[in-house]
Amino acid sequence: MSEASTTTTTTVTVMPSGQTYEATPGITLLEALRRAGVLNHECDGGAKCTDLCHLFVLEGRKSLSKTTREENERLDAIVGVGSKSRLACRAVLGEEPVTVELLTFV
Ligand code: FES
Repeated sequence: MSEASTTTTTTVTVMPSGQTYEATPGITLLEALRRAGVLNHECDGGAKCTDLCHLFVLEGRKSLSKTTREENERLDAIVGVGSKSRLACRAVLGEEPVTVELLTFV
């Protein structure tokens, strides 16, 4: 009997704490961080509380879904945005591990 598993997981490491959490590819960074209890949201992924779900992706950026025009427009309205910025509610996890830096705390 094979013990191979069809369940795929990845990890999200959160800086500055360095804590690592397992997550399921296909869910958003927001959902992964919400399940871990390290990030909350106010607009349920509606891209209206950008100051809360703005974070920096330090590693694994290419594993995430591409930034959409709408996300870029929302990011443009935030002070402190950089080339590593993403909205957690818009970035969908791939299979590669991701390291993010939180800019807000729950
Ligand atoms: S959850 Fe509100 S902007 Fe992302």
